[in-house]
Amino acid sequence: MKLISKSPLKGIIEVPADKSISHRSIMFGSIAHGTTTIKNFLRGEDCFSTMHAFQALGVAIEDDGDVITVHGKGIEGLRAPKQALDVGNSGTTIRLMMGMLNTCPFETVLYGDESLSLRPMNRVILPLQSMGAEISGHAGTEFPPITIHGSSQLQPMTYEMPVASAQVKSAILFAALQTEGLTTIIEKEASRNHTEEMILQFGGQIQQDGKEIRLTGPQQLKAQAVTVPGDISSASFFLAAGAIVPESEITLKNVGINPTRTGILKVLEEMGATLSMTNIDEKNQSADITIQTSQLKGITIGGEIIPTLIDELPVIALLATQAEGTTVIKDAEELKVKETNRIDATCDELKKLGANIEATADGLIIHGPTTLHGGSVSSLGDHRIGMMLQVAALLTDETVTLENPESIAISYPSFFEDVEQLTTK
Ligand code: S3P
Repeated sequence: MKLISKSPLKGIIEVPADKSISHRSIMFGSIAHGTTTIKNFLRGEDCFSTMHAFQALGVAIEDDGDVITVHGKGIEGLRAPKQALDVGNSGTTIRLMMGMLNTCPFETVLYGDESLSLRPMNRVILPLQSMGAEISGHAGTEFPPITIHGSSQLQPMTYEMPVASAQVKSAILFAALQTEGLTTIIEKEASRNHTEEMILQFGGQIQQDGKEIRLTGPQQLKAQAVTVPGDISSASFFLAAGAIVPESEITLKNVGINPTRTGILKVLEEMGATLSMTNIDEKNQSADITIQTSQLKGITIGGEIIPTLIDELPVIALLATQAEGTTVIKDAEELKVKETNRIDATCDELKKLGANIEATADGLIIHGPTTLHGGSVSSLGDHRIGMMLQVAALLTDETVTLENPESIAISYPSFFEDVEQLTTK
């Protein structure tokens, strides 16, 4: 498709609901006791994968178009699925469910699309196996389809995480909730803490002491009323566009500002962007963010900030193409095992539009500022690469065509409508 080309962005939009919290609200609602309601659920393909998987496990889940209602009967209320569960493109669905289903008295097989079938699962399989789970990848590999044999009696453990990953941490926490005794997780770097927060919200107990997380199981959870804030990862495409497309000023309403997710705001500020926050809602961890076109400078991004902006790095690389000087992104090897290898995808696709960018073993180096030009690019089936390229197209008068735009519906089905709304004078 032909992308929307150069135009200032003006106006106000509400970004879609948080994907990580939407997944977890279905999961916690399903294993809690009672009726959980979810307002502002993300109706994107990944979250529907989670919803359909739990429906196939016998959980009654209704969607009246506004509120989602989950009738949870505890983990013991889950039933054997009639067939293997297709979780599409969703790494969060497969990895968190891998942690959750080991004690169930039935076998579950989880599989997904081509991209998911290439994503590493040993990071979840190995710690779960050391808790006593019987779980395996396809034909002796670590890759999906994943078979969870079920009926496992789990043992608690102390686990030092070799990667900074909220998905791995969450899978272990879901297993620990069903395990008698104290499970301790030591994080490599602090990653998003939505699972920990929702365990507390659903009436469970969990302790955190720096990078050490302790949970004593088994625990019973109670149904809750959840309101999902907007997704800062979805907002990041407009934060970037607002900062670099000339003569822009936009406000993004109801953006989630959980501190384990706000690395992008710190980076924007350090690069010199003018942004402000209003309507801060401490309880719901959300705020409205206004950003305007700014003169940016290159910076170095690495270390403990990386997990707090991991999904934003492709669009941060685009920001860097418009910044004065060199931006170095390092310590981000995890980008290689996302929906695509995002180091290569970002580098290859932005180069096609004239960026001065190189891939390194653990990140990217970008020299700016550069004037981007038209070209033919592809999302490579990765929603975040697709959205980043649409923002890039807003920097040039020339035509940019995008292959595979439909992948954007994974996390942001109304993305192009929102771009259109902000660019219509
Ligand atoms: C997520 C964790 C991150 C992130 C993904 C969502 C989650 O993955 O990239 O989009 O909801 O827990 P990792 O845990 O692999 O870093």
